[in-house]
Amino acid sequence: MAFIQGYEFDAMSRRPLYGDVTQRLVDLCACAPGSVVADVGCGSGLATELLLERFPQLGSVVGIDPSDHELALAKERLGHHPRARFVTGRAQDVGAVVGPVDAVVLSNVMHQIPRAERHSVLRGCHDLLAPGGRLALNTLFYEGAVLPESRRFYAAWLHATRTWLRGRGGDLVLEREAPVALETLTPGDHEALMAEAGFADVRSEEDVYAWTLEDWQALCGYSIFVEGATGLTDVDLGSRALTAALHTVFRDLGLSSVPRRWLFVHGTRQR
Ligand SMILES: C[S@@+](CC[C@H](N)C(=O)[O-])C[C@H]1O[C@@H](n2cnc3c(N)ncnc32)[C@H](O)[C@@H]1O
Repeated sequence: MAFIQGYEFDAMSRRPLYGDVTQRLVDLCACAPGSVVADVGCGSGLATELLLERFPQLGSVVGIDPSDHELALAKERLGHHPRARFVTGRAQDVGAVVGPVDAVVLSNVMHQIPRAERHSVLRGCHDLLAPGGRLALNTLFYEGAVLPESRRFYAAWLHATRTWLRGRGGDLVLEREAPVALETLTPGDHEALMAEAGFADVRSEEDVYAWTLEDWQALCGYSIFVEGATGLTDVDLGSRALTAALHTVFRDLGLSSVPRRWLFVHGTRQR
């Protein structure tokens, strides 16, 4: 998994669609005045920003991310904020990089954690929380995210990407380990993982969001997505291939948007 400068998640995180999704996640946190929140896998800081807006009496938000490129963007946006700070670190080591907190947000991070490590990440977040503290996560890569009627779109997009690359003497890299994002779990699996990690009152909810061409295009500028979708280490080439193919498929299938489900899961550390 490569974090490449110039190919951060930022363009996607600034899409109105993504803003709506992240606002919904933040609303699930219900932070009391003075609370400290960890935004684990904060990227360029959208959830941190929305948390500070939604709960103006928050004590502070600590954004944690392993990518210094993502953190540079977060600091550019929010580095001046007296109640936001950003540290380099992984969700797997969260207890070593941040002290006790009242809430944890994992905004579209779980599908970037290898499946075998998801339990210990949730356990680490649980142990970080004060009794009664909440964890809220969401993900768009899980079992059930793709609606049956959209399968045709994904197949056509992959095919058109391959055709574009082959026309330039290249190809998709098919012989490889499956990307971590495709180590998918069902909503029920997510709930069970949360319960096994010690959380109570675990709930999950799903909703369908309509992705426009501009939304997908923004995702095509993200290195982790490009690498996962194409297998290419040349992210610039992969990004151009996916973007060109996207335009072809939206045009050929006469699409204005593609629906996809998003999963939200939340729970509380027992008192
Ligand atoms: C899809 S982006 C979401 C970024 C941000 N949370 C948002 O919603 O805008 C996933 C983020 O997870 C981060 N990430 C990847 N592996 C991680 C890990 N092991 N621990 C914590 N964060 C990780 C990536 O660097 C990236 O910033």
